Amino acid sequence: MLSVEGVSVRFAGISALSSVSLAVAAGERLGVVGPNGAGKTTLLNVVAGLVRPAAGAIRLDGRPLTGLAPDAVARAGVARTFQSPRLFSRMTVEENVRAGRSLDAEPWLRLVGLLPRRGDLAAALPPGEARRLELARALAGAPHVLLLDEPCGGLSAAETEDIAALLERAVTPATILVVVEHKLRVISRFCQRVAVLHLGEKIFDGPPTALRADRRVLDAYLGKARAS
Ligand SMILES: Nc1ncnc2c1ncn2[C@@H]1O[C@H](COP(=O)(O)OP(=O)(O)OP(=O)(O)O)[C@@H](O)[C@H]1O
Ligand SMILES: [Mg+2]
Repeated sequence: MLSVEGVSVRFAGISALSSVSLAVAAGERLGVVGPNGAGKTTLLNVVAGLVRPAAGAIRLDGRPLTGLAPDAVARAGVARTFQSPRLFSRMTVEENVRAGRSLDAEPWLRLVGLLPRRGDLAAALPPGEARRLELARALAGAPHVLLLDEPCGGLSAAETEDIAALLERAVTPATILVVVEHKLRVISRFCQRVAVLHLGEKIFDGPPTALRADRRVLDAYLGKARAS
């Protein structure tokens, strides 16, 4: 169980997260949505140890993660991908999956369909393949917690479908998955639960089917999405 308990994050006067609490159980897939600047990436960053909370605690199976450095959080079983893929551009596809660890990259490259490109430089990959490579790197450590920041961002409908299918194959019954995604269709198909952030506050936490009937969500998020 991953639990975020009353976490607040401030950046120079901006309240990026205000006392956000949520719990995600093993086998659960939580979608996180919300307008730009809502605090979605900050939520992943604070769990991954990239940002320190001003208040609150983060625990994994009861063990505190709060204040640990990113590499210590990773060793505790938390893997993540970034909103813009962060690859080692001058390393090969295979080296990116290994990322300095002693592991067999082959099954992960096969899983994401990049085995034929194992020797190519990461910089040569088009956006869809770069996203898949970053996913392979995150999955390769067999993480307990997987944090994905817009894994389908900037991808075509077909590429989005590929990522969704790949995630279906990759997650195990023990995986705790938190996925930030603007595409509500992906969330509705893939996640049993969705949390909505708005101006750093969690304004909804429930099944995706209940989203469209929620007044606060309609006002803060869906109404805007419809208008734009
Ligand atoms: N390192 C930082 N320094 C200062 N302000 C930041 C920093 N990171 C985020 N913020 C601010 O915190 C707020 C939340 O940002 P965050 O990136 O978490 O939003 P988001 O929901 O991921 O948005 P998007 O959908 O655009 O990715 C925004 O107001 C943002 O400008
Ligand atoms: Mg973001």
